[in-house]
Amino acid sequence: MHLFKYRKNELYAEDVPLKLLAEKYGTPLYVYSYNTLVRHIEAYKKAFRTFPHIICFALKANSNLAILRVLAEHGAGADIVSGGELYRALTAGIPPSKIVYAGVGKTENEIRYALKSKILMFNVESENELMEINRVAGKMKTKAPIALRVNPDIDPQTHSYIATGLKKHKFGIPIENALEFYKLANSLKNIKVIGIHKHIGSQITKVAPFVDALKRILMLVDEVNKQGVDIRYLDIGGGLGIPYRDEATPYPKELAKNLIPLVKGRELTLILEPGRSIAGNAGILLTKTLYLKKGPEKEFVIVDAGMNDLMRPSLYNAYHEILPVVKRRKKKVVSDVVGPICESGDFLAKDRLLQQVSPGDYLAVMSAGAYGFSMSSNYNSRPKAAEVMVKGKRHFLIRKRETYEDLIRGETIPSK
Ligand code: LLP
Repeated sequence: MHLFKYRKNELYAEDVPLKLLAEKYGTPLYVYSYNTLVRHIEAYKKAFRTFPHIICFALKANSNLAILRVLAEHGAGADIVSGGELYRALTAGIPPSKIVYAGVGKTENEIRYALKSKILMFNVESENELMEINRVAGKMKTKAPIALRVNPDIDPQTHSYIATGLKKHKFGIPIENALEFYKLANSLKNIKVIGIHKHIGSQITKVAPFVDALKRILMLVDEVNKQGVDIRYLDIGGGLGIPYRDEATPYPKELAKNLIPLVKGRELTLILEPGRSIAGNAGILLTKTLYLKKGPEKEFVIVDAGMNDLMRPSLYNAYHEILPVVKRRKKKVVSDVVGPICESGDFLAKDRLLQQVSPGDYLAVMSAGAYGFSMSSNYNSRPKAAEVMVKGKRHFLIRKRETYEDLIRGETIPSK
């Protein structure tokens, strides 16, 4: 559910016409709906209220400070994968006691920073990493709280680039080796084992893979407990899908309804790491039509947002709905919506049936709140887009549009 709706023929973000935002802040522009974000985090909280839990928002989906602050105010923690994300989470006011840290390549500096910040736990992805965390914690005369990321070998039935829980993936520890690994971790002086973690993939549109993965993990928890290791936190990762088109994706309450009975009666705190299902439909990318071009085989709508602003279509062939900001009674035409970047892979939509547009018309690329701005780049030396948050009738600039000076910040030309 989101709050980008037409009123008469104009598309609004909550109570603000998108056209007004495009004119005030310029395009390309990311626009987020405050109340959609709140609705999503509250839906998770309500769904899991009968079992102790922490909702750790996955910062990789969207790490704008204003968004993190909204989520923090509603009780969210953070799932981070880098020192930079830790810095953002702390700056936004997320308590370290609600921060979990995953990722296969944590560096010594990042480990130090996380230990110093007293995060809840490291989700450890390999034996080498475990030994390194043990070493760094020893140097700092402290104990590192950890969970092992276990790979349950479950197919989440999603795009191959965003599936993570199969044997062939670089993530986690194969479930068969997990018990040995726990024994090793438990024997290390500067490690305190407190949890178990799994994440099987993203944009998962069925509940079954979550159920299967959790069942496998719980069998392992029982075995680990028998070894005298106290697993208190069970982190089930993120991955719940959202409707980009017309997918019937499960709500958090369906997830909870299927998962809570499996853990009931256990002395555990569940951790969830949703990213997309919180932020995805809470944001759109506003863009302006620059030119129309008729090729020999195709018609192109050339807009001012490119793959550097929203990479998902180019990278995953992902579908994002594109809506006219002002609906007109015009015929519909099939065209490719493309950006200004010098690559054939620079498109937002292919062979899309759209209301005929004219140069100057604004378009809204829907469901762009997750993995949109956070994956954007300066490719072709394009300054990054501005970001705005709408709350009812009010709107706030939450990130300035980058300038040309921003593009070269930090660069130097060596003197001869
Ligand atoms: N936890 C871990 C350990 C993860 O690796 C991820 C996502 C999440 C949580 C959050 O998953 P979510 O709830 O958002 O599905 N760039 C891709 C998505 C990559 C997801 C990577 N990991 C995309 O644009 O579709």
